[in-house]
Amino acid sequence: MAQISLDNVSKVFPGNVTAVRDFSLAVGDEEFVVLVGPSGCGKSTTLRMVAGLEEVTGGTISIGGRIVNDISPRDRDIAMVFQNYALYPHMTVYKNMAFSLKLRGVARKEIDERVRQTAKILGIEPLLARKPKALSGGERQRVAVGRAIVRQPAAFLFDEPLSNLDARLRLEMRAELKNLHQRLRRTVLYVTHDQEEAMTLGDRIVVMQAGRIQQAGKPLDVYGRPANRFVASFVGTPPMNFFDGRLVRQDGICFDNSAFRLRLPEEPSGRLANWLERPVVLGVRPEAMSIEAAGRFAGPGNAIGARVLVVEPLGEKMDLFVNAGGDRRAVARIDARENLHVGDELNLYVDTRRLYIFEPGPDGNSLLTA
Ligand SMILES: Nc1ncnc2c1ncn2[C@@H]1O[C@H](COP(=O)(O)OP(=O)(O)O)[C@@H](O)[C@H]1O
Ligand SMILES: [Mg+2]
Repeated sequence: MAQISLDNVSKVFPGNVTAVRDFSLAVGDEEFVVLVGPSGCGKSTTLRMVAGLEEVTGGTISIGGRIVNDISPRDRDIAMVFQNYALYPHMTVYKNMAFSLKLRGVARKEIDERVRQTAKILGIEPLLARKPKALSGGERQRVAVGRAIVRQPAAFLFDEPLSNLDARLRLEMRAELKNLHQRLRRTVLYVTHDQEEAMTLGDRIVVMQAGRIQQAGKPLDVYGRPANRFVASFVGTPPMNFFDGRLVRQDGICFDNSAFRLRLPEEPSGRLANWLERPVVLGVRPEAMSIEAAGRFAGPGNAIGARVLVVEPLGEKMDLFVNAGGDRRAVARIDARENLHVGDELNLYVDTRRLYIFEPGPDGNSLLTA
């Protein structure tokens, strides 16, 4: 059993740089949890504290029920895979994988069995005699993962392991890692700045900003019910659109700014009811807009007048960058079509069941989830 628990963990570097603040998270046995957030938000520091490569300033970390604050990295029964792979350049793939077992005094026969079995799992048997410089990026990545697996640790820590790969290989390896987790059933704590990678890999994702957890949950729950504007804009591509305005009562409750008025599908309840006639921020996902008023995009009170600024074809879909009145910019992801041109004036129809309302300000809390 290898749960990983962080309780009120903080990290302050010399110079009074607070990298991680009051961080509490329990990763369940065999769970795959992804820490995701922009560069510098404290992901690597958190992971390195779990690995024992960085001391904690406050709080406790336990692995498998044992507090490990004062336990050395090699005795924590975890393996870490880094972005730069950190393979030993002068050793063959076989020796790279065997090295840590040898250090631990594992018998030669068992080392050989484990290395070959791991190589088989990862499909790198033909590479065992090669040195790292004779490997492609993807192959090196597999060897780095192999070096971690061969140790049979209770838990794996990954720090941006796919960031050095080209886009196509990244997708391939992403699927392989997920498949590997399903087969090996080990606890994984994984770090990435890439929200799509986080969504696709994680049983749960933990969105971080400035050393703090902003929200933790299943990927689709976080996407569907972001706790605040930061999470709303970080999770989902293209990012959610935001508009300043106010809530007014007219044929029900509407969001209103000087350029457009959208009617909310239901009477506001809970906290939202207190925000009538007050400034709020509206959130609309790019994929919750269409240029056809049909189906879930049928009115009334759901149109935003817009002028096309940029058209980005993506194949089946296209991204429409528009001006939505005044200097408000927005992006809509719509079904691809021809005959759309820069400068066209059109209506964007919004699925009003998918509107979000936030407190004003760049980090405003959601008024729908409370
Ligand atoms: N050894 C260190 N000394 C001082 N500050 C550090 C050190 N390592 C990281 N930091 C700072 O801590 C913050 C978090 O860094 P890091 O955990 O690497 O972020 P992330 O992995 O999310 O990009 C950053 O502001 C970074 O500059
Ligand atoms: Mg990092």
